[in-house]
Amino acid sequence: MRLQNTQDGYGLISILLHWLSALAIFGMFGLGLYMVELTYYDAWYKGSLDLHKSAGLTLAFVILLRFVWRVINTKPKDLSDKAIENLAAHGAHMALYLVMAALFFSGYLISTAEGHGIEVFGLFTVPATLTGDNQEDIAGEIHEWLAWGLMALVALHALAALKHHFINRDATLKRMVKPGE
Ligand code: HEM
Ligand code: HEM
Repeated sequence: MRLQNTQDGYGLISILLHWLSALAIFGMFGLGLYMVELTYYDAWYKGSLDLHKSAGLTLAFVILLRFVWRVINTKPKDLSDKAIENLAAHGAHMALYLVMAALFFSGYLISTAEGHGIEVFGLFTVPATLTGDNQEDIAGEIHEWLAWGLMALVALHALAALKHHFINRDATLKRMVKPGE
């Protein structure tokens, strides 16, 4: 079982990073929607927000590692013989990374708008940098839009993967599940 990617498929590291970060992103989305409905008197009011921020920054770091791993690794060869389809897939993957980066940054800007750093699981603090009067509201609005935008993009991405599997019957989905030999 290969750890690294080859021309023919993804290695174990790319596959694990893909599915674990997908799981974490769905969790973060659910937690985000849930926690903004809580009031100060709910037991989980502070805890859920602290978890969202700590897990969010940890995930940002993991996605950065994942992106670096992608760049320094072999890229599995394109599976479609239509150049336009391969271009669309590549564009969608880049868009996913871009929206994720903007989501992390807007989350950081909401949390640090008043000049307080973010404590990550009580271990260390990521300092505030930009601060401003309306920053919390504006970044909050953008964060919410980006979160929904990411979910829409992921839905398209998953539909494309299922189309490859069930309609084109090619190895696109299989090679993101089973590491190459
Ligand atoms: C995959 C990453 C993330 C996802 C999917 C996500 C998703 C969400 C969602 C759906 C909401 C609720 C929006 C609403 O309905 O108003 C939310 C709120 C929030 N998120 Fe995130 N988030 C992510 C990362 C982060 C990060 C990295 C931070 C900070 C370091 C952060 C900080 C916040 C804060 C402070 C709120 C509350 C905003 C408010 O009170 O209106 N998020 N997030
Ligand atoms: C939050 C959820 C998800 C995100 C952010 C995401 C992101 C990505 C990204 C960036 C890639 C490009 C390869 C890489 O850089 O590692 C990729 C590949 C892939 N993803 Fe996802 N993904 C998500 C969920 C899913 C789901 C639910 C499915 C299937 C139902 C799926 C199926 C695939 C497949 C088959 C590939 C390989 C495509 C190819 O070889 O061209 N992904 N994903």
